[in-house]
Amino acid sequence: MTKVSRYGIGPRRDKAPRKKDFFQGIENELSEGIELSSVRNSVDSILRLQSDNGAFIASPDFAEYHYSWLRDGSFCAYALDRADEHEASRRFHSWVNAAVGGISGIIDDVIGRHERGEKLDPSHMPPARFGLDGSTVTDEWPNFQIDGYGTWLWSLGQHLLITGQDGVPAEFLASVERVGRYLASFALSPCYDVWEESGSALHTSTLACVYGGLTTAARLLNDVQLLERALAVKERVRASAAQLGIYAKSNENADVDASALWLSTPFRVVEPTDRSYVRTVASIEEQLSLVGGIRRYPTDIYYGSGAWPVLTASLGWHYLTVGDLEGARRCHEWISERFDEEGRLGEQFGGELRDAPHFREWVDRWGPPARDLTWSHAMYVVLSIALESFDGSDEGGVIFPLIGDSDADARGLGA
Ligand code: BGC
Repeated sequence: MTKVSRYGIGPRRDKAPRKKDFFQGIENELSEGIELSSVRNSVDSILRLQSDNGAFIASPDFAEYHYSWLRDGSFCAYALDRADEHEASRRFHSWVNAAVGGISGIIDDVIGRHERGEKLDPSHMPPARFGLDGSTVTDEWPNFQIDGYGTWLWSLGQHLLITGQDGVPAEFLASVERVGRYLASFALSPCYDVWEESGSALHTSTLACVYGGLTTAARLLNDVQLLERALAVKERVRASAAQLGIYAKSNENADVDASALWLSTPFRVVEPTDRSYVRTVASIEEQLSLVGGIRRYPTDIYYGSGAWPVLTASLGWHYLTVGDLEGARRCHEWISERFDEEGRLGEQFGGELRDAPHFREWVDRWGPPARDLTWSHAMYVVLSIALESFDGSDEGGVIFPLIGDSDADARGLGA
């Protein structure tokens, strides 16, 4: 039987009676801007956009996105776990498990070559996205992006914690070990970033995702070497702020990038109160706000660089972790107003006015921007549920399995 969400946002396929007290509370919340119907719609959208085998299509209406990305999908699975849709989340993890199994030879091969100091061609690296059937796609896409592998391990770890499973289920063990080794090996190697650009740099948000993956794998496998590697990544991130006083986009670009928000929530490679991080958030607010939403980075030109629900939700999520309920509500409201009459939530908004020539350039190339982006729904769900359950004491819903600021504490593996 499908479980009714604790937050009342599940699809309610079992027609279970509503909990009176809870909805009383929600009615109060509604008057302050939380649209429960949109949250439920978003959970249903994610489920609708999931294939039977567990893959999530990135967007059904945008041909270039007819694939399943590790990055997008891992956040979608996390959103489903927050919405008590654990079985669907599990199916995504099983799908990744099978996809990783299908490229086990490639992963083992590149780790071996890297250890022998051989030069590697980025186009031969494990992919960022797969066909919905889990197959690899041979094309020109800038595939070497390690963040998705980190985010997947993190998301799997959250799934296991949320569902009360102590260890790695046997069928996932080989993939967790393999992806952990892959991340440990390439953690500090330049690769394409979360926006699939700039393949020659070390990117801050990629490092955050890798840290999230390595700490998760270290705890799940009780592996001190993976933890040592995570701590090296953390050190690299910290050191990167020394000169500029902010966490810049990459070692090649001193701008801010809104994906740096993930440094703290959810991956907690830095504390939300870290001074350089606080300055980074202030720069993101100042430089990347567009009519209330958040853009990717200052020189972005993709579809004129509109504001993204994914990033606006990430900022709202951060606000909650520092107790700024009003800020979180503003972000939530901005996204709530972006659903179309069919309940779709696009990738980005406002680029056509902000930078019309580049907007048109991309429309000519690939058609209008994605009107329904699965990952947008996911981050909306994450922010909505964190808002609904906010009581000033949790960490935006993220469970931190292995965070200890002193190395000794962290080396306690799971302490
Ligand atoms: C974004 C990626 C995303 C992909 C699919 C790209 O435009 O830059 O971060 O994974 O779309 O949604």
